[in-house]
Amino acid sequence: MSNIDQYAVYGSPIKHSKSPRIHSLFAQQTGQTLEYNAVLVPAEQFTQQTGNFFEQAGRGLNCTVPLKELAWEYADQLTERATLSKAVNTLIRQEDGSILGDNTDGIGLVTDLIHNHGIELAQKSILILGAGGASRGIIGPLLDQSPTQITVVNRTVSKALTLAEEFSHKGNITGCAYADLSGLSFDMIINATSASLSDDLPPLTEGLLANQGSCYDLAYSNQPTAFVRWGNQQAAAKSLDGLGMLVEQAAEAFYLWRAVRPNTQEVIQLLESERST
Ligand code: ATR
Repeated sequence: MSNIDQYAVYGSPIKHSKSPRIHSLFAQQTGQTLEYNAVLVPAEQFTQQTGNFFEQAGRGLNCTVPLKELAWEYADQLTERATLSKAVNTLIRQEDGSILGDNTDGIGLVTDLIHNHGIELAQKSILILGAGGASRGIIGPLLDQSPTQITVVNRTVSKALTLAEEFSHKGNITGCAYADLSGLSFDMIINATSASLSDDLPPLTEGLLANQGSCYDLAYSNQPTAFVRWGNQQAAAKSLDGLGMLVEQAAEAFYLWRAVRPNTQEVIQLLESERST
């Protein structure tokens, strides 16, 4: 490996990852010298490739689909938020050579909502669509914001109930089926399903979004996702996709590795301008 501090994102697929661009913009902006590459790593090669990377003095990794659970198992130590989310998106080589696993997805979402969009979560009711890994990564940091309650809804209701049970010690959270939502409304609806990837929409009914409520899709795309379009149809105060969260989770990882906080606004604005051209 070269003398320059090495970082990478591992995943499969990885070709369209924006992470190398985001981290090189952060590095330029903060005057940090580092290299950050996107590497195609299938699940079955994860442990070996990660071992090689850190043995060759690699400093830190981001892990994305389908590797976050494997990264969680790989880490020698875990932060509290990573322990609860059972998924790791950031691995950090520490001074003693041991590997710390963290999950910056949830804090990335919360930072984007509160700081970038001025959406307060305290005393608000939140509906999370989906009960997979993406939901698990955001629930803890959302509960830390003291919402009145969080409802997790899922097609496979048992997964929503299990997830709610796992986080019940941290706040007011329940799980349910889509049919149970009838007559309810929420200040914030977050789409954590993988439906957007196929431009699909979970079975949502009219009236689910409270007056002045907002929508957030964890997925992002150059065109508005099906869920962002649904939010606009419901006259959401804001209907946002996950581009800001992507940059904010990256900034949190950058901070863990380099102890320097990049200016995320600049990078979000640049990526926004690129996708509107
Ligand atoms: P991820 O790690 O991205 O969360 P996952 O663990 O496979 O991926 O979870 C995908 C989530 O999206 C699940 O909650 C899934 O619902 P089921 O558990 O019932 O399968 C949800 N999902 C995917 N497509 C969906 C759709 N078209 N409508 C509603 N929910 C959908």
